[in-house]
Amino acid sequence: MEFKTAVSKMTENDLIIRGKKHSDMIGNWPFSKTIFFLLSGKEPDKKEAALFDAMLTTVIDHGMGTASSMATRFVASTGNSLNTAVAGGVLALGDYHGGAIEKAMCLFTEVDKPAAFVKDALENKKVLYGFGHKVYKIQDPRTAHLVALCKKEGYVSKYLTLALEMEKAIEELKGKKIVLNVDGAIAALLLDMGFAPEMGKGFFIIGRTPGLVVQAVEEQAREKPVRRVSEDDITYDGK
Ligand SMILES: CC(C)(COP(=O)(O)OP(=O)(O)OC[C@H]1O[C@@H](n2cnc3c(N)ncnc32)[C@H](O)[C@@H]1OP(=O)(O)O)[C@@H](O)C(=O)NCCC(=O)NCCS
Repeated sequence: MEFKTAVSKMTENDLIIRGKKHSDMIGNWPFSKTIFFLLSGKEPDKKEAALFDAMLTTVIDHGMGTASSMATRFVASTGNSLNTAVAGGVLALGDYHGGAIEKAMCLFTEVDKPAAFVKDALENKKVLYGFGHKVYKIQDPRTAHLVALCKKEGYVSKYLTLALEMEKAIEELKGKKIVLNVDGAIAALLLDMGFAPEMGKGFFIIGRTPGLVVQAVEEQAREKPVRRVSEDDITYDGK
């Protein structure tokens, strides 16, 4: 059986990652830069490195109430190992949570004229991935931070410009704001940086795992075993 890889190779005293020595990275490269390089095989330039680091920070955690945090906590509460609980949270990621990055990356590459694209999508009840949020109805603050950082760094993002045009077009057509959410902003920037859509969900998993780890650890440290939804919060509407 033969295995081939262009990612990395162990040697007796070192590791080669994408053609470079791991030992030259340790202590010299920020973790986020090393992630960028491992995933793409390309060293980020200064602006890309600053943005990529900020993008990872934007998704590190989003409160206990998110689907992946709750899934992690429920699994942690029933006496499972940390890795099982974190895997439970990762399994809760889907096209509407975290996975929207990949979907939005595919979508943005299809857009030629933003206003016409949005009009067609809304008329045909298609989901515009990367837009909308359960809580943020006026602005996703994480998107605002990334937009501001692009300005500060002088980073011209073709896809973020396009996504913001789409956000404007949605508001004009629907008469209310459906915000460009953090998944959409990250999708746009990942495309600019040359990543393929298949990397989108992976990016979110990498960024959110610290949050899931600490949610699981806190759950087991603080709470009694076995989470349960209170019967008061459940309405039976069957026969
Ligand atoms: C996240 C999401 C589930 C929130 O849904 P929600 O809270 O029900 O959304 P709202 O109540 O604000 O929706 C208001 C209207 O906009 C529409 N809408 C919201 N997000 C939309 C989207 N992404 N594409 C198309 N229409 C959308 C809704 O269908 C609704 O239309 P209606 O008034 O004609 O019924 C939804 O916006 C969505 O599916 N987004 C795409 C997935 C995504 O990007 N997820 C990442 C979140 S960080």
